[in-house]
Amino acid sequence: MIAQCKAGIVGSFPALNAREKDGEPPLLDAWLTRIQDELDRHNQANPDNPAAPFAVNQIVHRSNARLQRDIEICHKHRVPIWITSLGARPEVNAAAHDCGGIALHDIINNSFARKAVEKGADGLIAVAAGAGGHAGPQSPFALVQEIREWFDGPLLLSGAIATGRAVLAAQAMGADLAYVGSPFIATDEANAQPEYKRMIVDSGAEDVVTSSLFTGVSGNYLAPSIRAAGLDPASLERGDVSDMNFADASSRPKAWSQIWGSGQGIGAVREVVPAGALVDRLAREYAEARAAICA
Ligand SMILES: Cc1cc2nc3c(=O)[nH]c(=O)nc-3n(C[C@H](O)[C@H](O)[C@H](O)COP(=O)(O)O)c2cc1C
Repeated sequence: MIAQCKAGIVGSFPALNAREKDGEPPLLDAWLTRIQDELDRHNQANPDNPAAPFAVNQIVHRSNARLQRDIEICHKHRVPIWITSLGARPEVNAAAHDCGGIALHDIINNSFARKAVEKGADGLIAVAAGAGGHAGPQSPFALVQEIREWFDGPLLLSGAIATGRAVLAAQAMGADLAYVGSPFIATDEANAQPEYKRMIVDSGAEDVVTSSLFTGVSGNYLAPSIRAAGLDPASLERGDVSDMNFADASSRPKAWSQIWGSGQGIGAVREVVPAGALVDRLAREYAEARAAICA
């Protein structure tokens, strides 16, 4: 995330990724201190090339017992961009606003989009078909078009965006910003295991399967990682939505710990590179695509 911000794009991470051991001080607090120190140092050394702001994702689901604590930590650190997913709550948006931040909410359809804005979100992240993680089922064309009929605030589009040309396409469709996830797994700085990075590089859209088995809600996963866990990606049982539990990943079967998520855009990922090199590639492709279309 720090590498993304230094490269000039908004980097983000889920607050729940910062997990301390029992009895230890909150790791999220330590991470945010480090992030701000490193970005401040970067800004002092590079006044002409400052870091982009960063975002923290809060899973707003009733099983997330840490939510209130994490909100307080993010408020204390004056996190500039708050992303909420799996639930929209006015008090999270209010906390973001109170410390000078903005709140963007993940949605997968127009009804959730309306609810999110009614509850005080400043902007929307349309998570369309083909996205990594808990992707929606809708085409990005349909989703953006329906939201743009009534919403003129900040709209981000997510789902299989992996090239600069696709970033331009997101804007052409009506989004303000493109939201890119899976390609950043295959970067030097990402904490992902080397085998996961390699699988992203070696896989394409055909290797991504949609299943609700692993979390209770539909998500996109790499088929080779499902096979490696001894399951057949073509005949997975359906998960139960009441199994959704963000409090405790260790309650899941151990064999699932190496089942890896990914969106469909990874055919564009050919090697593991520094995050800054990936950002440079996206910027170059974007400029080339725009010049070609304008010509
Ligand atoms: C392994 C993995 C984990 C994810 N975890 C989260 C998460 O905890 N919270 C969240 O809001 N989105 C999560 N996402 C979704 C991303 O925020 C983003 O919407 C998605 O990666 C964009 O699609 P793309 O991967 O095709 O670029 C996750 C995505 C992946 C691939």
